Amino acid sequence: MKGSSDHVLRCIACGEAFGALPEGYRCPSCGDLLEVVLRAAMAPEGFWTLRRGALGVWAFRRALPSVGREPVSLGEGGTPLLRVKNLAELSPLEHVYVKYEGQNPTGSFKDRGMTVAVSLALRYGARVLLCASTGNTAASLAAYAARAGRRALVLVPKGLVARGKLAQAQAYGALVVEVEGNFDTALGLVTRLASGGSGLFLLNSINPYRLEGQKTLAYELVLQLGRAPDYVVLPVGNGGNISALWKGFTELKAWRIITTLPRLVAVQAEGAAPIAHAFNRGLEGLEPVAAPHTLATAINIGRPALWKKALRALQESGGLALTVSDEEILAAKSRLASGEGLFVEAASAAPLAALYRLKHSLPRNALVVCVATGSGLKDRELVEERAPQPLSVKGEEALSSLLKKLF
Ligand code: F0G
Repeated sequence: MKGSSDHVLRCIACGEAFGALPEGYRCPSCGDLLEVVLRAAMAPEGFWTLRRGALGVWAFRRALPSVGREPVSLGEGGTPLLRVKNLAELSPLEHVYVKYEGQNPTGSFKDRGMTVAVSLALRYGARVLLCASTGNTAASLAAYAARAGRRALVLVPKGLVARGKLAQAQAYGALVVEVEGNFDTALGLVTRLASGGSGLFLLNSINPYRLEGQKTLAYELVLQLGRAPDYVVLPVGNGGNISALWKGFTELKAWRIITTLPRLVAVQAEGAAPIAHAFNRGLEGLEPVAAPHTLATAINIGRPALWKKALRALQESGGLALTVSDEEILAAKSRLASGEGLFVEAASAAPLAALYRLKHSLPRNALVVCVATGSGLKDRELVEERAPQPLSVKGEEALSSLLKKLF
């Protein structure tokens, strides 16, 4: 495999550095996770001038590993940051924003990581692109593989993924294979499949290039706010996005673009919360959840591969970790849609559910950003199952009298 000389891949545990992704995507010496370390830095002036142009992942290419050609892009990033206006129940919090990642090309934040990692996959000579997924990574991988003219293979846990996400991945031409077990089983399988010179290139977030793209979420927040937020609240599954966000913010601080760092708030579903439990109990290791379960299928993960990076992000940021119930998630999802016009998928409503619990313990003037990771069109069945029958009328007169009663 061939990397590029503008970065190295460094083990987060033993510190050994590699010029290219090693076999198995982990440190060959100690087996731990790798992270990308860039040789270049971003100058503060250069960063702030980006405010004048269009945002998007590739606006930050100076802070990304070089892909050596035109990136494989569908126009990812540059998503809106919207101030919450109508949710009076968030009082006393005064400054709550939603970063609406559902507006990415395939409807989730995964596209930020996929544009970078698939671009690099080509540099590595990848033929077939591979992942395990709870749905969104699958759809994103499939789209970027199509764009790159490569084949995509995705493994999903049977019966545990929103149907629309599978159909989306299939529409982009991916081969979707259901496996018995849960996401953790599927991730174990793809990790083994991708080793041994198989020519299959793995695009789950243990591949550190994914996180490089996803860290641009932090960059965009700082550009959109003109400063670092005080808190960023986000749903956590495999632990990739929280690790990426933290990397993005700490880089900005090291480059003296921001002077403060946010506290990260990890939100997990009650039935799938190994990271929240490990953090709150002060554990050194992780106690996996053998049979995770939540309606928020995107984050239904019991053995998160990136738990160590995620715990580190929480510890270093002085963060918080919370669990919320499926009922709280559904109530928050419904309020974001009816109160703010933001239709998000279940996992993406978890941060709002968490804020309802936290609102009295955060400073009222704190600048809080909730990351809405995916679109509500992703798991439509959750809404369809609960939607009332539409009213039905026969003829204009019946319609007029109904409207008179209602408005
Ligand atoms: N929100 C959504 C909508 C997701 O799809 C995921 C993860 C997360 C949050 C959690 O992010 O894993 O980086 O901590 N989805 C993965 C997938 C697992 O396969 O689509 P994380």
